[in-house]
Amino acid sequence: MSTLSPNDQTDIVAADRAHVWHHLTQHRAFDQADPAVFVEGHGLRLWDIEGREFLDAVSGGVWTVNVGYGRRSIADAVHEQLVKLNYFAASAGSIPGARFAEQLIARMPGMSRVYYSTSGSEANEKVFKMVRQISAQHHGGRKWKILFRERDYHGTTLGTLAACGQPQRSAAYGPFAPGFVEVPHCLEYRSQFPDAARYGEAAADAIEHVIEREGADTIGALCLEPITAGGGVIVPPQGYWQRVQEICRRHDILLHVDEVVCGLGRTGTWFGYQNFGIQPDFVTMAKGVASGYAAIACTVTTEAVFEKFRHADGGELGYFRDISTFGGCLAGPAAALENMRIIEDERLLDNAREMGVVLERELRGLMERHAVIGDVRGLGLFWGIELVADRETRCPLDEALVGRVVGLCRRQGVLIGMTNRSLPGFNNTLCLSPALVVSHAQILQIVRAIDVALSEIAA
Ligand SMILES: Cc1ncc(COP(=O)(O)O)c(C=O)c1O
Repeated sequence: MSTLSPNDQTDIVAADRAHVWHHLTQHRAFDQADPAVFVEGHGLRLWDIEGREFLDAVSGGVWTVNVGYGRRSIADAVHEQLVKLNYFAASAGSIPGARFAEQLIARMPGMSRVYYSTSGSEANEKVFKMVRQISAQHHGGRKWKILFRERDYHGTTLGTLAACGQPQRSAAYGPFAPGFVEVPHCLEYRSQFPDAARYGEAAADAIEHVIEREGADTIGALCLEPITAGGGVIVPPQGYWQRVQEICRRHDILLHVDEVVCGLGRTGTWFGYQNFGIQPDFVTMAKGVASGYAAIACTVTTEAVFEKFRHADGGELGYFRDISTFGGCLAGPAAALENMRIIEDERLLDNAREMGVVLERELRGLMERHAVIGDVRGLGLFWGIELVADRETRCPLDEALVGRVVGLCRRQGVLIGMTNRSLPGFNNTLCLSPALVVSHAQILQIVRAIDVALSEIAA
C-alpha cells in the first residue's frame, strides 16, 4: 500500500493534472475530480494513491495483466536480463528472444516464425506490410487489399485505424490508406441475417459476398479478432470459423488472427483461435504476452509465409525491410518467458476454464434477476454483458447509464469495463476479464457488485 505522505500525494496528483495527457480521456472530467493514480497491486487487488483498495476485474483496465499484479519472479527475470544485456537491435539474435520464440511456437502447432515488436498495433501493421509485400512480389501487386470486420479493432496507428470496424475510434483521423475493406460482424444477438437457419455459416458467407464483390484476386488477407473484444465481446457463432477458414483457402486469402486480447490464456486455451480448430497464416499478440511487465508484441507466421520473403522477385529489396527499435529490448522476451512459465506451472489455463464456468453461471443468474441484461456472452475469463432498455426490442441502454453501472461498481471497490466510444448507439456492453489467477470468492465479489449496481440503476 502507498506510504507516501499527504504532501507527496498532493504533489503527484498536481503534477499529473498539470502535465499528463491521459489515454482515451476527455480531460474536462478532471475539472470536477482528480485522476485515478494507482500505486500498487497484488494478484487482482490494486491500491490507489489514497490507499483505497480495488478488485480489478479487467486486468489493468484493458485485459492485459493475465498473471496478476506483483509477480516478483517476472521482475527478477527482467532485472537479471537487463544487467546482463538490455538491448541490441533485433537484426541480431538474443538468448531470451530465441528461447521465447521456441516456447511460443511449441504451443502453436503449424506456426514457425516470430517477429518481435512492442505493441498490438505494431504487430498488426507488420502483417499488413507483409501482405502488401507478398502481393508486390508474388502477385504482381494485385492481391493488395485487406479485409477487416465491422466491430473489430486492431490498433491506434493510422494503418490499423484504416482496418477499424469501430467508427467512433477512427472518426476525425482520416483520410486513411486505401485498400482496407469492411466485412459484416457476426453478432447473432444483433442479427443481420434474420432468415439464416445456421447463423455462423451465414455470417461467414457474408464475407465471401464481399470477396466476390471486390474480386478474390485483389484480396491478400482477412484480419479478424478470434473473439471481438472492445466491439462488444462477440464469440462467433457455431460453424463460423470453419467456414471462414474454408473461404480463405478457396480464394487464396491469408488468414490473420489478431490475438492481442485473447492470446496467452484469456479464453482457457493458449490462443483464442485454438477453440475453433482453425489454422491461421498470421497470429498477432501483445497485451498478455508479458502481462504488462514489459512491452512486447509478436507477429507469428508460418514457414510458408516466411519462405515467400526468402525467395521473392524483389531482388535486393525482397526481404522484409522492417525494424522496430524497441523490438530489440530484451526485457520483453525475458518477462514473456517467465509469464509463460507461470501460466504453465500454475495451471492457469485450467483455472481460466474452470472459473469461466463459474462466472458464466453467475452472470446467467444475474440475467434472471435483471431485465436490463439483454445478452451474456464470452469464453473462459472473457465476458460481455449487453445492457438493454427493453428486452423485447433489444433497444440498447443509454451509454451514460452503462457508464453509471461501471461507476457504481467502482464505488464498491470493483473495477469493471465497458465498450467505450466505439460503436455509435452500441456502447452498451459491460466487459469482464479478470486475471487468470482469479478465485471463486473473487468472482462472487465481482458479480455481487454488478448485481448491486444494476439494482441501483433500476430503482
Ligand atoms: C484486438 C486488439 N488488437 C490490437 C490492439 C492494439 O494494441 P496496442 O494498444 O498494444 O497497440 C488492441 C488494443 O486494445 C486490441 O484490443
